[in-house]
Amino acid sequence: MSVTYEVTVATGGSIQAGTIDKISVSLVGSLSNSDKFRIWTLFNLSPGSTKTMNIESEDNLGEILLVKLYKDARLLIPEDSWYCQYVTVKAPNNAVHNFPCYSWLVGESSLTVIEGKARRKCEYQYPILEEHWVNEIQSRQEAYQWSTFVPGIPRNIKAESASDLPKDAQFTLDRKLYLIFDLDSAFLDLGMNSLKDSQKMWNNLEEVQKSVDLSKVPVAAYVVKHWKEDTFFGYQYMNGSNPQLIKQCTHIPSKFPVTDEMVSSSLGPGTSLQEELQKGNIYIVDYEILHGIPANSILGKQQYLEAPMCLLYSNPENDLIPIAIQIRQEPGPQNPIFLPSDGKYDWCLAKIWVRHADAQIHQLLSHLLETHLFAEIFCVATLRKLPNAHPLFKLLMPHLKYTLHINTGARELLISDGGVIDKAFSTGGAGKVQILQRAMDQITYSYLCLPEDLASRGVERLPKYYYRDDALKIWFAINRFVENIVKIYYKDDATVLDDSEIQEWATEIFTEGFLARQSSGFPTMLQTRAELIKFLTMIIFTCSGRHAAVNTGQFDWGSWMPNNPSTMQKPAPSEKGKTGMFDIMCTLPGIQGTAIVVATIYLLSKTSPSATKLGTYVEERFTEAEPRACIETFQKDLQQITLEIEKRNESLELKYEYLLPDLIENSIAI
Ligand code: FE2
Repeated sequence: MSVTYEVTVATGGSIQAGTIDKISVSLVGSLSNSDKFRIWTLFNLSPGSTKTMNIESEDNLGEILLVKLYKDARLLIPEDSWYCQYVTVKAPNNAVHNFPCYSWLVGESSLTVIEGKARRKCEYQYPILEEHWVNEIQSRQEAYQWSTFVPGIPRNIKAESASDLPKDAQFTLDRKLYLIFDLDSAFLDLGMNSLKDSQKMWNNLEEVQKSVDLSKVPVAAYVVKHWKEDTFFGYQYMNGSNPQLIKQCTHIPSKFPVTDEMVSSSLGPGTSLQEELQKGNIYIVDYEILHGIPANSILGKQQYLEAPMCLLYSNPENDLIPIAIQIRQEPGPQNPIFLPSDGKYDWCLAKIWVRHADAQIHQLLSHLLETHLFAEIFCVATLRKLPNAHPLFKLLMPHLKYTLHINTGARELLISDGGVIDKAFSTGGAGKVQILQRAMDQITYSYLCLPEDLASRGVERLPKYYYRDDALKIWFAINRFVENIVKIYYKDDATVLDDSEIQEWATEIFTEGFLARQSSGFPTMLQTRAELIKFLTMIIFTCSGRHAAVNTGQFDWGSWMPNNPSTMQKPAPSEKGKTGMFDIMCTLPGIQGTAIVVATIYLLSKTSPSATKLGTYVEERFTEAEPRACIETFQKDLQQITLEIEKRNESLELKYEYLLPDLIENSIAI
């Protein structure tokens, strides 16, 4: 007697997800396999559609373990790729089994999809499933290979351009069209087209202001108005687009010999530098990593790069204000310590040198290395070492989506020879790679684990540090979510330790990504549930909150060029009292450099209309009730955080919104 299985296939909703190619499906059961069943594709597999059909079998197939999908081309018709979201199979006993797919079938191909229950390798209880595991990992490792862009920085996906990537790793067409990196269109959008080829300097700040209309971008308009103010300068270290550098200063470094006398007018009466150091009110930012890095040459003109240090004071009004700046690392008469009490142009130019250093660190390290390139490590290792059915693959993949595409584009257009960094930044040329390599020599696991980083920087009590407050909320929400998921699949520490897939994955991240540097403190294996939970929290936070904090506000904080100079065209001053406005204008980037940077950050600050916000799992990879309940709890947690941030923001002159959960993308996709 024949047995009937009701099979439903769901096609993805994006443009081009549907197909008119020949699609067939067969079922693999624990007792037997069905024949191939051809789906009539015309009108049935259009974007967003589901198609249900009956598959008859002579025999009872037993437990349905796998679904096989086949795609064959039609004669004389161009190949038409198909994106299958999922397949469900209703067995004769009415039990419904889910097969999450979320993959493209391209060309003449087939794809085997495992039933949706998350499982570790030791839980593949049938030989056919073990064989599936081997085939899946093998084909993944062929499709996703490591490559070295330059030695000494994290290894990356092997692909010259995004079109070389497997289609599963590429943007969908709508995203491609919206996020196309086209500087010319950005110049047009911004009304800067006439500036893009200008080799001239700016004559004055009014010209800069007229070059782009920032009046409709509230934060940028605020920056234009307040950029010269000391309280604003300090505020940016906490809540600007690079809010992770500020550190408490417990003693004055010998290379930055600030005296009590120098800062007494900034500190006010009745206190001293020593007293404020002891109270924990003195903070420092040190750009030492830039020291000795060769400066770029742009269009044959030598640029200048220094490694400043800035001392700041958290004053009784709870504002963080700069109180001393030394532009170069070595102290001496040719390297004066600039003070707020100096002439206004001296002090203004000293602050501009600090902002210039910050612009380099922000783009190359805080943004590129510490979010984009690290996320790529996690992505490639996950694809190579964890199969679809692994609980960590299901957990992590939504947070790694599209990162390979955007990063391949960044290597092609931003950090490539002749790319945007070379065209407009003082760290272009040989410098950019040296900075990345130095940072890789210094990076620690602790630094990426937010609570540890905040503690080591001594900034837990720094007032008005909204980034810290919001980032901690996001970190702990992710942490609770991850803990709930991990506890479903790992009943104790031994289960973690015995999971060979996890151990190989962690080793791959350590060796390929973090270049096997033992001193980094990155785990080479994960021995307990607590270690696993922390590691996963770090990954998801890096790919979501950490990236949002340094990415989303780029145009807000960087579009007013004097606040974010990408290069310096004159050497730093070596004495006080010699600087005027003309010197400042000659030092700042010229018209073309400004236009390139403003257009670039305009493009990089865009959010795709199809962006997926943190905690939204469009791809329903978890099919069981328990993890799905954890997702709901996570979403409620994030809603609560939204309310708290919105309430805090009500009383702020400048709202801090970059870590509002609705504005955080689930993965690094821009
Ligand atoms: Fe980004």
